Amino acid sequence: MSAPRTAKIIDGKGFAEGMRTRIGAAAARLKADYGLTPGLAVILVGEDPASVIYTRNKGRAAEAAGFASSNHRYNYRLPADTGEVALLDLIRRLNEDGSVHGILVQLPLPDHIDPHRVITAIDPAKDVDGFHLLNVGRLATGFKDGLVPCTPQGCIMLLKHALDDLTGLNALVLGRSNIVGKPMARLLLGENCTVTMAHSRTRDLAEECRQADILIVAVGRPRMVKGDWIKPGATVIDVGINRITAGDGKTWLVGDVDFDEAVKVAGHITPVPGGVGPMTIACLLRNTLIAAARQAGLPAPEI
Ligand code: GUN
Repeated sequence: MSAPRTAKIIDGKGFAEGMRTRIGAAAARLKADYGLTPGLAVILVGEDPASVIYTRNKGRAAEAAGFASSNHRYNYRLPADTGEVALLDLIRRLNEDGSVHGILVQLPLPDHIDPHRVITAIDPAKDVDGFHLLNVGRLATGFKDGLVPCTPQGCIMLLKHALDDLTGLNALVLGRSNIVGKPMARLLLGENCTVTMAHSRTRDLAEECRQADILIVAVGRPRMVKGDWIKPGATVIDVGINRITAGDGKTWLVGDVDFDEAVKVAGHITPVPGGVGPMTIACLLRNTLIAAARQAGLPAPEI
């Protein structure tokens, strides 16, 4: 019998902390050299508990990097019954505000607001989520001057950190959302991977996954991907953050991958928590820094 494998754990938390330190230093240089303070406006409509935490963390991280953000003027918590017109009006004002370089509208929005109309109202230069059609198109066509969605960007950074060169590897993206799956596939193509997109209607999903050297899972289903879905030695990036409740009422976070099984098969794997999640925020700060520099006509700092 062969010895049980144990995957190397990809430390997203540590990687993101290093990025945040470098971003803070770059922001301090922008301030000292050009009097420029990056500004990030974070908008939340409604009270979704997870979104309340995510937006609070984003604002605080921006402040910690020396940006203007979670103070009152840049942090918008709007009631759930806010009308679309009022939200579009706020975005128009933020588009025109020279001290705001990044605008983030937390998704999902309440049902009565059309997310496409809201996202396309954001100035593409301030679209630090990379969701505006112009930035989606830039990524799809390989233009380098767009803003790239934060979670897939973070996944690519972790993959390159773990594997260095991704050329020629078979990558499977499980999940086809606009926030993660689709931009993820485009970034992997840009790294010369052979990319397969899989989703809930894919036939024999487990067998498809077993072909992948790189497996990115973003489906929002706790522990769906089992150990025997994974090719031995593969790199597994788990984007899922699912809160589950035990019989005694205790709650904790698990990913979309069954970590305890997968860690015995994979070559590298991200944990949950401490894997992809911290990278999303670090990449949001990076995008805000890039957006601020570009809007001031300066070269974007390398982070
Ligand atoms: N909801 C879940 N992920 C994201 C994200 O990356 N950006 C925004 N704006 N909303 C989200």
